[in-house]
This record gives sequence, C-alpha cells and structure tokens, in this order.
Amino acid sequence: MGDLFMLWVTVGMCYATFSASACSQLFSPGQAYLTYATSAALGAQSGIEECKFQFVWERWNCPENALQLSTHNRLRGATRETAFIHAISSAGVMHAITKNCSMGDFENCGCDESKKGKTGGRGWIWGGCSDNVEFGERISKLFVDSLEKGKDARALMNLHNNRVGRLAARATMKRTCKCHGLSGSCSIQTCWLQLASIREIGDYLKAKYDWALKIEMDKHQLRAGNSAEGHWDPMETFFPGAEAELIFLEESPDYCTRNTSLGIYGTEGRECLQRSHNASRWEQHNCGRLCTECGLQVEERRTEATSSCNCKFQWCCTVKCDQCRHVVNKYYCRRYLGRSKGKGSA
Ligand SMILES: *[C@@H]1O[C@H](CO)[C@@H](O)[C@H](O)[C@H]1NC(C)=O
Ligand SMILES: *[C@@H]1O[C@H](CO)[C@@H](O)[C@H](O)[C@H]1NC(C)=O
Ligand SMILES: *[C@@H]1O[C@H](CO)[C@@H](O)[C@H](O)[C@H]1NC(C)=O
Repeated sequence: MGDLFMLWVTVGMCYATFSASACSQLFSPGQAYLTYATSAALGAQSGIEECKFQFVWERWNCPENALQLSTHNRLRGATRETAFIHAISSAGVMHAITKNCSMGDFENCGCDESKKGKTGGRGWIWGGCSDNVEFGERISKLFVDSLEKGKDARALMNLHNNRVGRLAARATMKRTCKCHGLSGSCSIQTCWLQLASIREIGDYLKAKYDWALKIEMDKHQLRAGNSAEGHWDPMETFFPGAEAELIFLEESPDYCTRNTSLGIYGTEGRECLQRSHNASRWEQHNCGRLCTECGLQVEERRTEATSSCNCKFQWCCTVKCDQCRHVVNKYYCRRYLGRSKGKGSA
C-alpha cells in the first residue's frame, strides 16, 4: 500500500493520516479538506507519472514500490532516486493545487492579484491571472511533509527534497503576456506568472538529480529511526548552501540485479534503445548501460507492425489510407544462454 493509496482512503480521516497541525489548518471553516485531498492525490500521481517518463530508459525506472513517501519504508535507501521521487511528488501536488486554485475550483482561493496594476517593467504591467503559488506551496507542504513521521537524517533528507520540489515549481514559472494598444500595436502589455508544465518541472529536477549532493552523516543516526532528540527545524538548519539542490545520504546500488528484499527489479527483460542514426549520444549507449554493463546480452526481436500509409485526401472530406506492414526491431536485455558470463550473478 503506497502513500498515494493512503491519501485516497483516508479522505475525511485527516487526523489519522496527517499531522494534527496540518488538519486544523485544513479544517478551518469553509474549507473543503476533501477537495484538497483529491487534488493533492491527483498531483502526486502526475508527479509519479513524470518520474516514470524521466527514467524510462534508465536502469532504475521509478518502479511502483519506490513510490511510498514516508521514511520508514524498508524498500528504499536514502539514495538520489529517493530524493527525486520526493521532489517530483511534492512539485506535482503543488502544481495540481495551484492550477485548481487558478481555475476557481476552490472557494477560498483564486489568482494571485497582489501585483495587479503595478508596473512590471518597460512596456508592461501586471494583470491577468498569476498562479497563486503561495497557496499551492502551503497546501503541498501540509500534505506531503506530514507524511514524514521520522526525526532522523533520512527524515531530514526527505523534507529537504520535498522542499526542493516546491522550489523547482517556483523556479520554472514563466511570464505570459498579452498585447494591448491601438490596433494591436502592443504599446502596452499585461503579464502574469504561470507555473510551467509538469514535464518542464520534471526536466528541471532531472538535471538536479544528475548533480545531487551527497551528505555525509553519522550512520548510527541514519539507522536510528525516531531517535533524534530535541527540536529541529529542517528549513532553518539543513545545509544553507544547498537549499535548492537535491541531497542524498547513500550511494545507489547499480540496479542491475534483481533483489526483491531491496525492491530492485534488475534490468533482465527490459527493452533498451539500440544505436540509431538520430539518437542522442546518451541513447546510443543505452543497451550498453542496461544490458551489457549488467552482464546481460542484447537480444534483437523482429516484430511486424501495421500502420496507416499512403494516405490520400478525398473530396470531400475523408482521408483514405492503406494499411502497411513493416518490420520493427526491438532490443531487450537477456541473460546469456549456456555458459554464464559477466558480473551480476553474485
Ligand atoms: C482540479 O483540476 C483537475 C484537472 O483539471 C480536475 O480534473 C479536477 O476536477 C479539479 N479539482 C477540482 C476540485 O475541481
Ligand atoms: C539482497 O540485498 C541484501 C542486502 O544488501 C543482501 O544481503 C542479499 O544477499 C541480496 N540478495 C540477493 C539475492 O542478491
Ligand atoms: C528519429 O527521429 C524521428 C523524428 O524525430 C522519430 O520519429 C524517429 O522515431 C526517430 N528514430 C529513432 C530510431 O529513434
């Protein structure tokens, strides 16, 4: 059972799922907790789908079991992959809440009009509907951060990365403008700030994933669970120089070999991208990364596919196509048959 599932089944049971302080804010008069919870769950889901998209050709491809957000899930290390999941989920929740808010879906929240009418720069003033990220950020923090029950290094790491996700949603915002003036002269424009798409936020966080920072911490502290004492405030004390960077505590395994007790599926059976003339350099090495470097063989499978072809426009108004058959080559990682070879079997 993932946290996402928990989010759904506990709609209406806020105190059981989230912290009391989160609930008391969510339950203030006139606010529909259920409305937020549904939007938050949809947002987390879209974050997870984005994770799968970003990692589709990687050894670790954002498998279902990775999608639980709370600390004490034994299937997850404190790796950079965990860092990414936290950031993209938290950004997804913020995105969904903020967009719903701008669409007028929530009674108590609307566009951010704090700057409306003010001059923004040469030839433009603030107008239109700026996304209310403040609101989205606050609700996302309430939901996602309250899933974190621990008070150890891992909890700190997760909270930090949740925040990096919310910062990413802010950092990728874009100004959109509309022209005014006599006959479209555009002598004056009104502009507003909008959240980028989840895809753009995903691209942004994927780059941060590549540059994630490893933080050295006491292993005892790391393993100790809920043992940290005293007050701590991750927003104030955690790595002032790395506020907007993803952080992790443990190096990742190579993700080659299946290990169910660690929740790793391995790359055997996975499809990979073979050298092709228009693939990026990274993609050219994809079968190498997924198969060969993991001690597996690349298997080519020819499949026949049919698709529409020779389409002609007919007066009026239909399009007639033939169905053409063509051969498609796909590549998969497979174990060496016969003599075993290479690493990955240890
Ligand atoms: C929030 O937005 C999504 C996507 O547009 C929509 O499906 C959903 O119904 C909205 N939620 C509310 C409470 O209106
Ligand atoms: C899975 O990982 C654990 C922890 O590192 C290790 O003890 C175990 O031997 C591994 N199992 C397999 C099948 O590799
Ligand atoms: C090559 O690029 C075209 C256009 O971007 C794309 O449709 C096609 O699938 C690519 N081929 C391969 C093998 O990636």
